[in-house]
Amino acid sequence: MSVIIEIVKLTKRYGKKLAVNDLSLQVETGAIYGFVGPNGAGKTSTMRILCTLMHPTTGTIRVGGYDVLKNPRDVRRLVGYMPDFFGVYDDMTVMEYLDFFAACYDLPAQQRASINTDLLALVDLSHRANDMVDNLSRGMKQRLALARTLAHDPQVLVLDEPASGLDPRARVEIRELLVELARMGKTIFFSTHILADVAEICTHVGILEGGKLVASGNLNEMQRQLMPQRTLSIKLIGSLEQAQAVLGNIPGVLSVIPYEGGTTEPDSVHLRVAFGGTDTDVSDILQALVMAKLRVLHFTEDMRDVESIFLQATQGKVT
Ligand SMILES: Nc1ncnc2c1ncn2[C@@H]1O[C@H](COP(=O)(O)OP(=O)(O)OP(=O)(O)O)[C@@H](O)[C@H]1O
Ligand SMILES: [Mg+2]
Repeated sequence: MSVIIEIVKLTKRYGKKLAVNDLSLQVETGAIYGFVGPNGAGKTSTMRILCTLMHPTTGTIRVGGYDVLKNPRDVRRLVGYMPDFFGVYDDMTVMEYLDFFAACYDLPAQQRASINTDLLALVDLSHRANDMVDNLSRGMKQRLALARTLAHDPQVLVLDEPASGLDPRARVEIRELLVELARMGKTIFFSTHILADVAEICTHVGILEGGKLVASGNLNEMQRQLMPQRTLSIKLIGSLEQAQAVLGNIPGVLSVIPYEGGTTEPDSVHLRVAFGGTDTDVSDILQALVMAKLRVLHFTEDMRDVESIFLQATQGKVT
């Protein structure tokens, strides 16, 4: 796999404030890279440097081999950037808005018309082409902002919290769009606080805290590094005591905790089981429950409990 984004010993200071602290990371071509971290971790600062909107204090970033300091114009050609705010454009229709940004990339007017039409179709806004931008819902604005980053057909998309403030359906739509764009061959580097999105679509994740990378890799690797203990979520019909007795006898089971919260039907039991063991041991647990004639409704391993990974990796340090 080739590397398309290379962040090399990057440091950014604002006066005395150290926002990015000797950060190095690489993003492979074709990845959907989730850049996660608490507020103030340095995500936006890193992305702005990547997009040549701000100079680093020391270190650099290379995109497709081009250095943001030495070859900023080449970097800009390769990168589409969606900032974490929409900006205010009162008197513009959706089509005018898109055309304005396409024109910024020197695309000839004739070519722009068909590109804009295609982009609106891609983000499912064709029916709003002549509406005022101001009248769009937040979800639509986010999709429009995403469309605008695509005008010059960049290879790399740098998206700063593309799904923030969206309702669940709008979030799923953005998520699907990102997957679609990755399928079209784009590399996606996006920041988010929505860990469910990370679990759902990211091929790689980097967790940033205090300007430093505290964990990185794919989620499974990260989980293995940070949390050797596995967790099973089990739902069954039957008595809690019986389930606890069966599970308590299985070697490797560390704890069996009735699940609190959520809605549970009156005669079903929901448990979280912590254990240390292999995949064979996981299947042995299921078998033991079935042999004991407990009716299993749901049996799954929390492989992608990103929230736990995030909490384990970050310490809530305030910088
Ligand atoms: N222009 C600026 N001047 C001074 N300090 C700044 C400036 N921009 C950012 N900072 C500080 O740098 C640190 C990193 O900020 P940054 O916006 O990069 O974090 P972030 O990870 O994007 O956070 P969030 O999740 O809240 O968007 C913060 O402590 C922030 O207060
Ligand atoms: Mg930010």
